[in-house]
Amino acid sequence: MMTSEWLSVLPKAELHMHIDGSLQAERMLQLAKKNGIDLPYSTVEEVEDAYQFKDLQSFLDLYYLGASVLREEDDFYHLMMDYLLKCREDNIVHAEIMVEPQTYLANGIGFDVFMSGFKRAIADAKSQWGISILLILSLLKHTTEDECIAVLNMADDYSDDFVALGMASTEIGNPPNKFQRLYELGKSRGYNLQTHSGEEGSADLIWGSLEAMQVKRIDHGVRCTDDPLLVDHLKNHQIPLTVCPLSNVRLRVFDKIEDHNIIDLLKKDVLVTVNSDDPAYFGGFLNDNYHALIDAFDLDKTDVLALVKNGFRASYLPEDRVQVFM
Ligand code: ADE
Ligand code: ZN
Repeated sequence: MMTSEWLSVLPKAELHMHIDGSLQAERMLQLAKKNGIDLPYSTVEEVEDAYQFKDLQSFLDLYYLGASVLREEDDFYHLMMDYLLKCREDNIVHAEIMVEPQTYLANGIGFDVFMSGFKRAIADAKSQWGISILLILSLLKHTTEDECIAVLNMADDYSDDFVALGMASTEIGNPPNKFQRLYELGKSRGYNLQTHSGEEGSADLIWGSLEAMQVKRIDHGVRCTDDPLLVDHLKNHQIPLTVCPLSNVRLRVFDKIEDHNIIDLLKKDVLVTVNSDDPAYFGGFLNDNYHALIDAFDLDKTDVLALVKNGFRASYLPEDRVQVFM
């Protein structure tokens, strides 16, 4: 019998979580009021009622609106600290967190402001309970490659703080070859390379991400099952997929959790991991994602342990740290 206590005390890693996606309704309303930002909602219920998404774009519109309440260093501190406290609750001992500078730069907020807030929260959490955190520089596919390169250059002053270069936002209409030069630059600067791909978009886009962007880790990637050769390739090269089950249901990638393909992929030895993506928007943090899978697929402890271990194997932790969790 698998108890929720067993799951909650199990040390876990989370590899796919956008910090802006962890902005909870109470905090959003509090910061909007403090910073004088007009939002189309005034209660937590109104915020949560708005979270009915028909696809990725309908979510992204609200997600960028929500992030517009973040203005001061302290706001970024609280955003990060709120998520780190959730990690403590869910026993996430290692997290790789996506930071999207373009969202803040568009509101006139510089790297010094948001990075100071994020880093102060991480330092506090490390000293208070000892969590391991890496940051991913996540750029936005709906912007131009030149804009992304400008932000990559700005991040040079923080290159020790970012372990990887990634991309998120609108996948369809922004194919991998649009960002080939950006990823060549990212590689030459020593970043690990990853990208969102194959969430709504086809298996072809995943092939493109592997070839034109040279990525070694794919965020989502669930549409790989449209192409058996691609599934074989992912398995043979052990290319990690950071999968987000509740997100995929809320954004209508799958109609219901029972239709999700993550367990099929696990059984085929593809390196799939479980993550929350934007937990404040999709109704669940990491343990909720595990619970949804356990209930839908009647998973036993062996299956859950395989998924949890994959989270560490797919991480950017050095091999000796990964072995601690095997
Ligand atoms: N940004 C935040 N969440 C995202 C998702 N699920 N897909 C693409 N971009 C995102
Ligand atoms: Zn994501």
